[in-house]
Amino acid sequence: MRHYLDHASTSWPKPPGVIEAGVFFQTSCGAAAGRGGYRSSQEADRVVQSTRRLLQETIGAAHSDEIALCTNGTHSLNAAIFGLALGSMGKPFHVVTTATEHNSVLRPLALATKRGWLTWTAVDCDSTGRVDPAKVANAVTPETRWLLINHASNVTGIIQDLPSLREIADRHGIHLMVDAAQSLGYVPIDVRAIGIDILSAPGHKGLCGTLGTGLLYVRREIQSSISPLAIGGTGESSDKIDGDFTWQSVMESGNLNVPAIASLKSAMEWKRSAPAIDYSPWIQQLLDAINATSKFEVVGSQHRSPHSHVPIISVVTRSRNSGLLSQELAMMMESMANVECRAGFHCAGLIHQSLNTADCGGTLRLSMGQTSQADDVVAACEGIQRVAEIL
Ligand SMILES: Cc1ncc(COP(=O)(O)O)c(C=O)c1O
Repeated sequence: MRHYLDHASTSWPKPPGVIEAGVFFQTSCGAAAGRGGYRSSQEADRVVQSTRRLLQETIGAAHSDEIALCTNGTHSLNAAIFGLALGSMGKPFHVVTTATEHNSVLRPLALATKRGWLTWTAVDCDSTGRVDPAKVANAVTPETRWLLINHASNVTGIIQDLPSLREIADRHGIHLMVDAAQSLGYVPIDVRAIGIDILSAPGHKGLCGTLGTGLLYVRREIQSSISPLAIGGTGESSDKIDGDFTWQSVMESGNLNVPAIASLKSAMEWKRSAPAIDYSPWIQQLLDAINATSKFEVVGSQHRSPHSHVPIISVVTRSRNSGLLSQELAMMMESMANVECRAGFHCAGLIHQSLNTADCGGTLRLSMGQTSQADDVVAACEGIQRVAEIL
């Protein structure tokens, strides 16, 4: 039996009815959204509209037209970063970000810098992955227009202090963009209460939709500062090749993946009625199992609460340079305990220097989600014990 502990990559299994919703859409309707006046096309449109409304409610947005549906977190982040760069009309600006970011933030920033479109500073984190807001404030320059913050680290699970970061943004008159890839669906997020200007997230992780879903929220007032990266069919004003198309329609140019969107809708409806999971006992079980061996060590803080961390634990061998790479540990976890977990650098190109996990090939990461079961956690604890015995 598979014990899947890689929810930080994508959630699995999907909640009941989620896959079926996509299949049902494809077989019973299957039309393109916003492309026709006939009944099934309108039905596809309704699926898309109601998914956007669910997303709007989930993140506390004022309007559903502030949300563009994307194909994953990477697509959404690229649309925001390059969209801002293109929208700045050749006037380079400065971005303050953090060492905890995913490569889907760091690589677009690096490429945009090479092209002369912007400059950026990545503020270091400490050995738990925490970013000190005071350091962020110090990195702001007169040219800074954006703080771009990874809400929850996909390596240590730590949640950053968004209210303090918002205060800094307010003090300097700059905008706040949040990558909520690991937090949305795990911790409540209210974009208006926090003051988030742009929020990016996949639909296939904490929201439990299928792969191929994501969202980009952009507050109405700043939508005009983002240029679309792709433009073409929008299903409206088709006789015009230039004009004032709505932000949402150009950001979603081309046919949408409505079967996947139908699945995302079903997942969010399911999540509304599903009991909230308290991951704390499982986290404690894993920490106890790791600490009980003399071979492994938790990366980052052991003091965890639902307010401080999402359910992600990274582990390394105590010696850190035991000669064993995290990839080999993951292979052992699967072969000895049927535990599927991810190893390596987790597409986070900068954080490992601060965590001192670069030389051991990154970390072994265990991550849980809404459909995890108690026996997955038990299997992971046994796996850790068995691997430790042969090290
Ligand atoms: C923090 C963070 N940002 C962005 C992404 C990219 O999301 P996606 O895998 O949907 O492209 C990930 C993926 O793991 C992530 O952990």
